[in-house]
This record gives sequence, structure tokens and C-alpha cells, in this order.
Amino acid sequence: MEVKLSRAAKKITSSSIQELSHLSQRCNAINLAEGFPDFPASPHIKNAAVSAINSDFNQYRHVQGLCDHVAKMAKEMHGLDIDPLTDVAICCGQSEAFAAAIFATIDPGDEVILFDPSYETYEACVTMVGGVPISSTAFYVVLCHFCFWDPIMALHIHVPLDPPQWTLDPSKLLRSFTDRTKAIVLNSPQNPTGKVFTKKELEIIAGECCRQNCLALTDEVYEHITYDNLKHISLASFPGMQERTVITSSLSKSFSVTGWRVGWAIAPAFLADAIRNIHVKVTDSAPAPFQEAALTALRSPPEYFESLRRDYQSKRDYMIKLLAEVGFKIDFIPQGSFFIFAELPDNCPLLDVDFVKKLILEAGVVAVPGQGFFNTNLPSTEGSNLSCFYQKRYIRFAFCKSDATLTMAAERLCKLLDAEGHLVLH
Ligand SMILES: Cc1ncc(COP(=O)(O)O)c(C=O)c1O
Repeated sequence: MEVKLSRAAKKITSSSIQELSHLSQRCNAINLAEGFPDFPASPHIKNAAVSAINSDFNQYRHVQGLCDHVAKMAKEMHGLDIDPLTDVAICCGQSEAFAAAIFATIDPGDEVILFDPSYETYEACVTMVGGVPISSTAFYVVLCHFCFWDPIMALHIHVPLDPPQWTLDPSKLLRSFTDRTKAIVLNSPQNPTGKVFTKKELEIIAGECCRQNCLALTDEVYEHITYDNLKHISLASFPGMQERTVITSSLSKSFSVTGWRVGWAIAPAFLADAIRNIHVKVTDSAPAPFQEAALTALRSPPEYFESLRRDYQSKRDYMIKLLAEVGFKIDFIPQGSFFIFAELPDNCPLLDVDFVKKLILEAGVVAVPGQGFFNTNLPSTEGSNLSCFYQKRYIRFAFCKSDATLTMAAERLCKLLDAEGHLVLH
């Protein structure tokens, strides 16, 4: 009966992360893989949730005050004028807001520009509606040109950000637009690299979106987690962008409550309305008590957000030092989010998946092989050339963990060092 599965279901299979996660559970490995905190949320937020449950907020619910506050924050952070009655849709986390935004805008055959590497969920959502994630690589352009290869058949190919600094090459972006391009997806601060797109890069993306009359779907879940005094800038704040941008975000990362499932989309009224309608059909409403608690969370004083940044910056610095000391190449220091995308040492013969397997078995620490964040469906000839080799040489470490967890991980890694202080896996 497996033939009865849809094309999308057959394509969206369990990732290497999930498979390695079984192995890591068997080995009781320290989890530096998954992007959720293992420390408690702030008491003022938890108390608000407890109080909402005790007040019997048990039914489907729309908390308008939450939309009001999301609009207020967008004004304060980005100067955006948002009508909280029409331009905000509350959803079950950024994940649902983003999926609903894709369902609201993308038809089969539409092209969606994604960056490479990027968070895996975007590609899956585009696949579910039959859109086409699209690339600008020279190989692809040449192939299309000379072989009359219909780009509509190209699958899962993205605009590469160039390592080691994950720089956006404007020419690669510009040639990725076609007359079928419907939207571009931007995640800044970024998972997995920790890149915060610069004002100049955002200007280029915004300029091209306007020129090509295309939509922008942004994922800003790490909006409050930036380092070294860098500020997150929303793509929607550039001239001509608010009318064509869907901002998605959530409570998950800013308040260490990934299981509460409260997020939102901010968009022009016609789009927010479409997203809201899809949300109502799929889940009806986000969890009522947690919507109430979200109000308290978003009203947290500036000191809350300052200490969030400070704490994560100190965890970042600790992990950067550790990983560099045990031999990883850290050419790019994360500017935001809570991930380090570390490159394997040149002399390491292993690729990412095998490295992580050994890391679990021998060090009792689990991280994520980087290849899952890169385009997986390169045409086979391109997949074999050297330029794609780097995609299997990165490991993503999540440092959204307690200091005790990070110290224990350091102890375990340091047990496997050779005389020169480098990690040895057999
Ligand atoms: C870039 C990015 N977007 C979205 C999410 C999920 O957000 P939510 O919990 O609000 O669905 C994650 C979780 O890891 C993420 O890294």
C-alpha cells in the first residue's frame, strides 16, 4: 500500500538527524544536536502559563492582545506600521505560520528561491505544494541553456552562500530569478550558519524582489539573538518590501519554550487573511493558555532580551574556544542564532555523517551532520565535483544548552585528544 503515499510524502523522509538521534539515545549522548534549550524558561513566563491554565483558558482562542503586541514590536524594532486587526495571524509556532504562508502563495510550478545552506523545513514546505526550489549555479544555467532542460523539472536546488563567510554573491542571486519566481525565503539570523545578513546584502535582495515583483517570506525566529552589538534588520523594512513580505516568527527561541507552539505571521491584510484562513482549517487556534502567557513574554522588559543575548554570547564564546582547541576549523564566528557550523579539520578523512556517528559512539556527544542543510538533489555530475564536497565537511553544534551540559560535553571531547591536543576518532 506504500504506493498510495503522495509524491510529497515520498520525498519528505526522515532526515539523518532523526536517525542519528536514535543512536544517540541508545548511547545516552550529550545532545548538542537539536535547537532547543535544556534549561528552564523564565519564571515570569511560566507563571503566566500556570495562571492561564488555572483561569480555565481551555477552549479554542484568539488573543487579540497578542496581535497588538506583535504589531507594537514590529514598529519599535523595524519602524513598520502594522494594523493588528488585519495584518497579524497567530499560528502554532513559526513552522505553521511559514507552512501556511507557502500554502497561501505558492502554486505547483511556481519557483521559490532558497539559500544554501538553510533550515530544512523550507524545502519540505515548498515540496508539499509542488513548487520548485531553484538554483543559480553556473552548471545549472549552462545545462538549461544548452540542453533545453526545462527548469520546472529541476528539484531542490538553491542559491549558494559562499563559504567560509557564507557570503552572498549578488550575481548568483540575480541569475536565479526567472519569470516563474514567486517568492524568496530569507532566514536571518540564520540556522545553521549563524549568519546575520548585512544591510548591503538585504538591500540587494530587497532591490531584486521589487524589480522582479516577487514576494519575500522571512523567518525571523532568532530576531532577538544577535551578538557583538549586531542588530537584526527585517527585510520588510526596506523600501517597497512591506507590501510584499510575510514575516514569520515565534516565542520558541526568544523565550526558550519551543514546545509551547505559539508563533505568528505579519503580512499585508490580504495575505494575513489567507494565512489565518489556512491556520483555522488546519489547527483552528494556537494553544489557548500559551497564547495568554505569550502576552506576558512579549511584554518582558529590555533587560530580559539583553540577558538572553549576553548569556548566549558567553555560551557561543565557550563553544568556539572548545571546538577550535580540539581541531575544528572555525572560520566564521556566528553573529546570531545559537548554532556553530564548524568545519572538519583538513586532515580528517571522515565526512560529516560518519564523523557524527563516531562522535556519538566514542565521545558520547551528538551534533548534526551539515549535509542535511545543503541542497540534496544536485544533478549527479555536479554532486560529484569538488565544489560540492564542502557540503559534507560541516558539523552543526547547538549551544542552547545549560553551562553544565556544555562543560560535560567539553570533558567528554577532551578525553579523546591526542598528544597534540586534537580530537582522535577511530
Ligand atoms: C530557522 C528556524 N526557524 C524555525 C524554527 C522552528 O520554530 P517554531 O518552534 O516556532 O516552529 C527553527 C527551529 O529550530 C529554526 O531553526
